[in-house]
Amino acid sequence: MNQHAGANHAVSVIGLGAMGAGIARTLLDAGCQVSVWNRSRGKVDELVSRGAVACDSPLEAVQANTYVIVCLTDYAAWQAIIEANGLDDCFDGTCIIQLTTGTLDTVQDHAAFIERHGGRLADGAVMCYPSDLGTETGSLLMAGSPAVLEECDPFLRLLAPTWTNLGEDIRKPTILSRALMVDVGLSLIGIVNGVAIAQAGGISLDVFMQHTKDVSAIIPAEKIRLIEAIRDGNTEETQATINTWGEGQKAVRAIAQSLGTNLVFQDAVKLVFEEAEKRGLSKKDLAALAEVFAPGS
Ligand SMILES: NC(=O)c1ccc[n+]([C@@H]2O[C@H](COP(=O)([O-])OP(=O)(O)OC[C@H]3O[C@@H](n4cnc5c(N)ncnc54)[C@H](OP(=O)(O)O)[C@@H]3O)[C@@H](O)[C@H]2O)c1
Repeated sequence: MNQHAGANHAVSVIGLGAMGAGIARTLLDAGCQVSVWNRSRGKVDELVSRGAVACDSPLEAVQANTYVIVCLTDYAAWQAIIEANGLDDCFDGTCIIQLTTGTLDTVQDHAAFIERHGGRLADGAVMCYPSDLGTETGSLLMAGSPAVLEECDPFLRLLAPTWTNLGEDIRKPTILSRALMVDVGLSLIGIVNGVAIAQAGGISLDVFMQHTKDVSAIIPAEKIRLIEAIRDGNTEETQATINTWGEGQKAVRAIAQSLGTNLVFQDAVKLVFEEAEKRGLSKKDLAALAEVFAPGS
């Protein structure tokens, strides 16, 4: 990254866990002036050795700069920091770039709180590992008023050159990031579960790995096909019905049971297919599972 891209930009970072420290490091590397605060002091010292300015309290961090990036475990941690340090009246004129993962309620309550206290807010979700920040694979989903997002752009751009603007609805980054995490999370949990079954059945993990690569090759195109089928209401045409998939998953469960692996994942999958069968979806494409998951269904 251009080491001068952030020159003349000053920002505070509150929360120096894996992600907050990555954010602070990336902005320092880009030439920003970065003030940092963290509950545990050791993480502050590491960043100070890289050029950050240490703040002794969150109040000092909020007062040090107009732009304050918050990246904590959850919104409850931020709330606890606000309450313990009497920060309520310190947000007038401050622009918070909130990158903590939240829920719809906590994100909305926080937006209302910042507005009531005279601050400005850009709320976002980080969609990459700390090591991706500042590179082409850095990914940030953001929401806020156009004016606030525009003023935050210099910082967002340094973290994720092609950050995404989801508009003014402050809930959108949370919704989109969590929806995407269903896919990523279940795929990764699935692979770990698959490893357990392969190992219990005496399959070498090198062999498993090679075949995973082959089987996974179809996944990107298949995901797009499913999304398009749901969007277009085209769930009749199929190469493998829900019944076929359900039978396949039943076989997985039976084999896992024979091999003695934990069935908690297979039990959850079984419930999904039972629900689909109850709704008469057995002959449809996998895309028709959308009916099982729809609100109020
Ligand atoms: N790591 C990733 O790859 C990744 C990717 C995408 C999004 N995120 C999101 O980024 C956020 C931070 O994640 P992380 O990986 O940095 O987590 P982490 O390494 O566990 O760090 C958590 C941070 O929150 C602070 N904290 C927690 N409770 C606190 C409290 N009550 N008062 C004050 N400080 C408190 C911790 O302070 P101490 O150091 O004093 O414990 C630490 O700075 C999360 O919302 C996560 O979902 C992370």
